[in-house]
Amino acid sequence: MVMSGKARAHTNIAIIKYWGKADDTYIIPMNNSISVALDRFYTETEVTFDESYDKDTLVLNGEPVNEKELKKISRFMDVVRDYSQQPLYAHIESENFVPTAAGLASSASAYAALAAACNHALSLNLSDKDLSRLARRGSGSASRSVFGGFVEWEKGHDDKTSFSHPIESDRWEDELSMIIVVINDKAKSVSSRSGMALTRETSRFYQYWLDHIEADIAEAKAAISDKDFQRLGEVIEANGLRMHATNLGAQPPFTYLAPESYQAMAIVHHCRTLGYPCYFTMDAGANVKILVQKEHQQAVVSELAKTFNDEQIILSDITRSGIEIIG
Ligand code: ADP
Ligand code: DP6
Repeated sequence: MVMSGKARAHTNIAIIKYWGKADDTYIIPMNNSISVALDRFYTETEVTFDESYDKDTLVLNGEPVNEKELKKISRFMDVVRDYSQQPLYAHIESENFVPTAAGLASSASAYAALAAACNHALSLNLSDKDLSRLARRGSGSASRSVFGGFVEWEKGHDDKTSFSHPIESDRWEDELSMIIVVINDKAKSVSSRSGMALTRETSRFYQYWLDHIEADIAEAKAAISDKDFQRLGEVIEANGLRMHATNLGAQPPFTYLAPESYQAMAIVHHCRTLGYPCYFTMDAGANVKILVQKEHQQAVVSELAKTFNDEQIILSDITRSGIEIIG
């Protein structure tokens, strides 16, 4: 019997970061995180289970993946087999409408789409909460990509209690957008997975990160509830920089940021002095993501265009739609 399903999931950008795992096998994070879902970037994945397959296969953007990537996806499919109590292997075809492994959260949309496609193909009837738990097993940030808008991932303390949920925002995200300054869209040398592990294990600054995270989460949620853009922006900028600071305290120290990242950050600060409120955040890569109110988006783009070329400046709305089944 052949069973198949196809799903789309959007990437998300953390505005309060997930950085460090309490449990590597189940992907339980050290701290809660908050994200927004990007309309512009997404993954579409089709999965087919068939008795005749003798192993899992993955074709990503039209190319079969290498052994290392195959092992990673097979580990996730083992979790799916465990959830569904059936032994079938799968053929997976996935297309990223986002650069892969460049700090633009391809793993988030990838595993959310795959989890949803499996849920559909195998008629697992998982609730969104359980889908978020399943996606988490592939990549932590994927647990947030099950939902649209502002999303919080509750760290919990085990497989059952660690999942994401939408944050009530009275549609405030419709008034906001993100500008992505693409500084490097090539695959990065230090993955988020290995970067956060090294930092958690060795960074002298990691405890400092943990000491501030609960206050940052509370501040961000209060700002979302009050639709207070400045208050939200100030906490996301501080939180993102603090995450990057922990990497400088690791043994050996490392950074994802490039000289052009600092140029983009300086332009953001300059825009604020011009009266255009906007705030930056960066992930496991050099690209800079800028949260802005739509009314000021064009003014900020004009300032960025003095330094960066058109192809480097990408605009995205924040989508309120979560996982979609498309086949
Ligand atoms: P990013 O910043 O893009 O999320 P990560 O290093 O966190 O970078 O994740 C990239 C990894 O996610 C890839 O190396 C691959 O293992 C996995 N990945 C990305 N896209 C897909 C996809 N569509 N299907 C399956 N796995 C994917
Ligand atoms: C900096 O979710 O890619 O983007 O759970 O190991 O797959 P794994 O890591 P991943 O890490 C994302 C880290 C981040 C911050 C964030 O998205 O919260």
